[in-house]
Amino acid sequence: MRNFSKVLVTGGCGFIGSNFIRYILDATDWHIINLDALTYAGNPENLSDIADNPRYQFIKGRIEDPEVVYPLMKNVDLVVNFAAESHVDRSIHSAIPFIRTNVEGTQVLLDGARLGKKVKLFVHVSTDEVYGSLKKDDPPFNEENPLKPNSPYSASKASSDMLVRACFKTHDFPCIITRCSNNYGPYQFPEKLIPLMILNALEEKPLPIYGDGLNIRDWIYVLDHCAGILAVIEKGKIGSIYNLGGECEKTNLEVVKTILNILGKDESLIQFVKDRPGHDRRYAMDISLAKKELGWAPKMSFKKGIEYTIDWYIKNKSWWQRIRSGEYLKFYEKHYNMLGLKKED
Ligand code: NAD
Ligand code: TYD
Repeated sequence: MRNFSKVLVTGGCGFIGSNFIRYILDATDWHIINLDALTYAGNPENLSDIADNPRYQFIKGRIEDPEVVYPLMKNVDLVVNFAAESHVDRSIHSAIPFIRTNVEGTQVLLDGARLGKKVKLFVHVSTDEVYGSLKKDDPPFNEENPLKPNSPYSASKASSDMLVRACFKTHDFPCIITRCSNNYGPYQFPEKLIPLMILNALEEKPLPIYGDGLNIRDWIYVLDHCAGILAVIEKGKIGSIYNLGGECEKTNLEVVKTILNILGKDESLIQFVKDRPGHDRRYAMDISLAKKELGWAPKMSFKKGIEYTIDWYIKNKSWWQRIRSGEYLKFYEKHYNMLGLKKED
């Protein structure tokens, strides 16, 4: 099993990155440097409980800035790259930030890691969305599937995966790529389906479902994803790709009805709206390689995970109220316009 002493986590103030930092501070004795640009999605509050931990250091900066990245790489032996623009709807609205961060940023990190000569492993956190969309009866994606991204977000992630692959093939630099399905859990920014629907339901606002609501996603609890990444770090084969997923396919309508049911809210809050352009119909992951080579499997049931997540949002009202009253609201209005809805809808 591999071991490390100092890890650079990028994007650690976002949803998965913050859960991951908390997870590895507990599971290992590693020191962590968190490099995050604090975009709209990056919130230092997500880590306020561990901010004073002597094994944790925060640095504000962009991954595509070599002046920030290169010196850091001389001081760490592991890189885990979470930093990304991560929302499909935003990428449809404006793709350039996705290219800057997800594509250019990943290359700067790779160059810095390789040239700094201290990094022993580079783990790149990617997504099932790079594979494109499945039909109802298609088998789940495995690591050999071709990349057929359909949104600017997934195209930028697929590009970054290719750059990581090229760095391994060309320079023999030790990289591993993980591709995970849709995460949910505490600290997820309320623009993504599950937190958006929980909060709208709590505030009795309409729950906008794109198209017919029958698109399928494979849901994984965020800490199961974190455990999968740690297993990859410790045991993954260099140069490999590992699919991670929850083996939990659900239509969006099923997810939203489950949330309404737990909260005791009426299904009349559901509002079908114009479909997302290029909306992928179904994602599903074959995770047999990760099970076999890493001994990892997701543990949390959807029922327990969603109950726990709803409870977290109920108990952390000030966290999301601050987000929903500021910058996010401005985007939400634009987003509504984009979908052809009026603000009062
Ligand atoms: P997020 O949007 O919640 O967080 C992204 C973080 O990256 C934020 O803290 C942001 O400030 C930071 N960031 C953005 N641009 C940056 C830049 N140029 N330099 C430094 N920091 C920057 O995203 P998330 O949902 O936590 O996703 C994390 C990673 O996991 C992403 O790479 C995403 O593609 C991947 N992923 C996400 C999911 C999911 O369901 N959320 C599923 C599979 C893979
Ligand atoms: P999202 O959370 O944006 O993740 P991704 O697009 O990366 O899978 O969306 C999950 C699913 O929920 C997707 O099929 C789009 C749908 N969706 C809605 O129906 N309404 C919404 O308001 C949002 C944000 C998503």
